[in-house]
Amino acid sequence: MAGLSTHAIHGHEHRDDVGSHIPPIYLSVVYEYIDYELKEAIFIDRGNYLRYGREENPTTRALERVVAKLEVVEDALAFNSGMAAISTVFIWGLKPGDKIVLPMELYSSTFALLNNIAPKLNIKIEKVWPSAEAIVEAIDRNTSMVFLEVMTNPTNKVIDIDYIYRHIDLDRTMLVVDNTFTTPIILKPAKYGARLVIHSMTKYFGGHNDVVGGVVAGGRKDIVALWDWRRMLGGILQPFEAYMNYRGIKTLEIRFEKHSNNAKAVAEYLANHSKVEEVMYPGLQSDPYHGIAKKLFEKPLFGAVISFKIKGSYQDVISFMKRLKIIKRCPSLGGTESMAVIPTKAGAMFIEPEHRLKLGISENLVRLSIGLENVDDIIEDLSQALNF
Ligand SMILES: Cc1ncc(COP(=O)(O)O)c(C=O)c1O
Repeated sequence: MAGLSTHAIHGHEHRDDVGSHIPPIYLSVVYEYIDYELKEAIFIDRGNYLRYGREENPTTRALERVVAKLEVVEDALAFNSGMAAISTVFIWGLKPGDKIVLPMELYSSTFALLNNIAPKLNIKIEKVWPSAEAIVEAIDRNTSMVFLEVMTNPTNKVIDIDYIYRHIDLDRTMLVVDNTFTTPIILKPAKYGARLVIHSMTKYFGGHNDVVGGVVAGGRKDIVALWDWRRMLGGILQPFEAYMNYRGIKTLEIRFEKHSNNAKAVAEYLANHSKVEEVMYPGLQSDPYHGIAKKLFEKPLFGAVISFKIKGSYQDVISFMKRLKIIKRCPSLGGTESMAVIPTKAGAMFIEPEHRLKLGISENLVRLSIGLENVDDIIEDLSQALNF
């Protein structure tokens, strides 16, 4: 089996008459039937003729082939955002009377979406402490889906997916993993029984903070069923965005390594800073989740998201944020630029207040996404900003 970067670069399987190495951006919305009698179609995929841009697009398809290879599953389906991918999976996979079990710390819009659609569809939501044991314990006979991120946002707890894999009946309860934070570079959830693997490609896959996208990867049968929902709901990733995401993925492995190495150096710096109360980063040997992360992750890389608590008041946090120069005060993560956000004023607002308290999401918590700048410059920026 080829390595990850080889798949990322060559796995698109595009061939054409002019010998292009790179999949072109196919802008056509319609595709003429070669044989008007429909005996032969230009391109047959997912059981359908390539005929209309809301159903399939050859550029998008090239990207999907690459993602399926990276996650080592049969197929993938690209959407115009991570949320379009997640909402389509919920609509496809949940029915009235079902229960879904989730960790209480999860990407906030996933919570917002579920909180809004669950009452309409009579679906029960159970949010538990982000640990494998708590998740397994919450599963009952009505639980049709467990949905989780192995590394939680923003406090970087690591959930032992291997324990879940060994303790649940995967035929009765499907495991869906949002692998955005971990990426297939360090974790392939399908190895642990995940039936579907989701990404916000807006993050590490696209990697440059210049394109939005989402993808679901899994077995052929599920992807064909989801394909039908995608065309009904209209969420296909458009060709230019598909091209940009594919282009990003080609350098995913090398970028993820640099992101992770930069982040580790920053986390070590922060852990020794007198104005820092706590650093949450599983790459630190002292982190309580280091052991689980080391066991699960295929390489000693822990991603680019670091959260830390500033010793001081909320006003001190604001002063720190205002002083940042290179690091931009933006949400999102996984892109070339380093960014900082105050979770209680951003995504974590959707996490219930009592859960925030238990999880350690306090007002003095700052989340960083470490970019690809020279790490000395990132540290220098933090150093001057902490000098408030
Ligand atoms: C873990 C995770 N999943 C899903 C999403 C949603 O993705 P998108 O913004 O592409 O819709 C995000 C966005 O921040 C995320 O961080």
